[in-house]
Amino acid sequence: MKIILFIISCVAFCQAGDYDYGEVIQDSLLFYEAERSGKLPDDQKVTWRTDSALDDQGENGEDLTGGYYDAGNYVKFGFPMAFTTTVLSWGIISHEAGYTKADSLDEARAAVKWATDYFLKCHVSEHELYGQVGDLTLDSATWSRPEDMVTDRPAFKIDEDNPGSDLAGETAAALAATSIVFKTVNATYSETLLTHAQQLFEFADNFRGNYSDAMNESYTSSGYQDELVWGALWLYKATENETYLDKAQELYDEFQLKYFGYWFGWDQKISAIEVLFAQLTNDTAHTTKVTDYCDYMLNEEVRTPKGLVYINEWGPLSLAANAALVCLEAASAGLNPDEYREFAKSQIDYMLGDAGRSFVVGYGEDPPTHANHRSSDCPDAPDVCDWTTYASTDPNAHVLTGALIGGPDENDTYVDDREDYQKNAVATNYNAGFQSALAALYEL
Ligand SMILES: *[C@@H]1O[C@H](CO)[C@@H](O)[C@H](O)[C@H]1NC(C)=O
Ligand SMILES: *[C@@H]1O[C@H](CO)[C@@H](O)[C@H](O)[C@H]1NC(C)=O
Ligand SMILES: *[C@@H]1O[C@H](CO)[C@@H](O)[C@H](O)[C@H]1NC(C)=O
Ligand SMILES: *[C@@H]1O[C@H](CO)[C@@H](O)[C@H](O)[C@H]1NC(C)=O
Ligand SMILES: *[C@@H]1O[C@H](CO)[C@@H](O)[C@H](O)[C@H]1NC(C)=O
Ligand SMILES: *[C@@H]1O[C@H](CO)[C@@H](O)[C@H](O)[C@H]1NC(C)=O
Repeated sequence: MKIILFIISCVAFCQAGDYDYGEVIQDSLLFYEAERSGKLPDDQKVTWRTDSALDDQGENGEDLTGGYYDAGNYVKFGFPMAFTTTVLSWGIISHEAGYTKADSLDEARAAVKWATDYFLKCHVSEHELYGQVGDLTLDSATWSRPEDMVTDRPAFKIDEDNPGSDLAGETAAALAATSIVFKTVNATYSETLLTHAQQLFEFADNFRGNYSDAMNESYTSSGYQDELVWGALWLYKATENETYLDKAQELYDEFQLKYFGYWFGWDQKISAIEVLFAQLTNDTAHTTKVTDYCDYMLNEEVRTPKGLVYINEWGPLSLAANAALVCLEAASAGLNPDEYREFAKSQIDYMLGDAGRSFVVGYGEDPPTHANHRSSDCPDAPDVCDWTTYASTDPNAHVLTGALIGGPDENDTYVDDREDYQKNAVATNYNAGFQSALAALYEL
């Protein structure tokens, strides 16, 4: 009897969350505002950021302003930006109630639109897509405000001669997913997104190659196979046209997609593909793969002593949040929902304070104050910002509210030191699965 009462009260209490997920959703959206490039709108809440990179352009002078800076630097990397957009849109579609409850639905839509408005500019013709503006070597030479940037910003694109099925496939996925987000909000915009998504998928499928070969520095993809299947699945979800579902299954079979390493992130989408297939078809060939993945995460993945699944030393918090999201989506598809939600909650709660401190800037107990992030480290103009600012032990001049940092080592050890960039990096792709997982937990 006592056990039953405990279970009942735990369902009521534990699932309500010991942390204010709604507040963290709002905070995470502020992080995306802080990463905005281009001309900022009047309703921008993060006011220590102003307009920047207003001359970003393509080889023929095409306007490429807007979009997001990738991380602590000011390069606009299209591949992780598209992944970020797909994953944020997935959360808005699947867990709209979480955003509504957090009073953040408009801000969440604005966050994905900030990226898709930019992707539409980058897609300069049917078979031409810009995938990078800025150069990391040039960009990393200075520690300064983006508003003061004078560094050259070369732009790189894929086309028929230099194809990139990974970049075009992921951008197609992002535009298709966002077309669903806007379907009932702005039908014209939604249609525009879908048209570009279809064109980009056709380009990705008919001109195969790795986009990294066309950029001089980039997030190198380990292959385009997963992005092609992922793009086809999102087009099916957006159009309900069976041709795309058949295409997804045909490509899946052609590539014999299977797990190698159980991570879900900007380069690896297989677990998310399996769960999207499962949601769209209930096909046991895919639901079994989903439960294989989540059961591995729950029972076999390496953990830190305090319980974080430790998938990689780069971005361990983000990778754990992404795994949490996959299992929350599995739960939504009816697969072991209680068990998988409990796992997801344990991972997110680790990040919010269960390990003895918060790993989210500006939130909770003892949050990080030295994110490896230039624009928040720099004081407002006209104060000087340079490598002395970087090397100083002072906290960042501005609070980069909502940013999930890289995270601790395998022993839960963490140092709040800007120069330890592995532990203190932040990135637009780090926050995406995290934010969608929060929306899923908050709607319960
Ligand atoms: C729909 O989106 C487009 C593109 O951003 C915009 O120009 C238009 O004003 C929007 N329409 C409505 C009704 O919000
Ligand atoms: C990338 O291109 C820029 C401009 O064209 C150049 O300055 C830079 O050295 C290149 N970087 C690499 C790694 O090739
Ligand atoms: C794409 O990259 C992967 C990983 O580096 C490589 O194995 C594959 O051969 C490349 N494909 C093409 C078409 O270059
Ligand atoms: C489904 O998509 C395919 C490929 O784009 C297209 O040829 C076909 O006309 C579409 N079918 C419907 C019913 O819209
Ligand atoms: C999958 O199964 C669930 C539970 O039986 C059901 O609610 C859902 O509609 C099914 N989805 C599809 C695409 O068949
Ligand atoms: C974690 O602790 C183990 C056992 O003490 C040790 O062998 C390992 O080197 C530590 N890892 C790191 C990254 O310090």
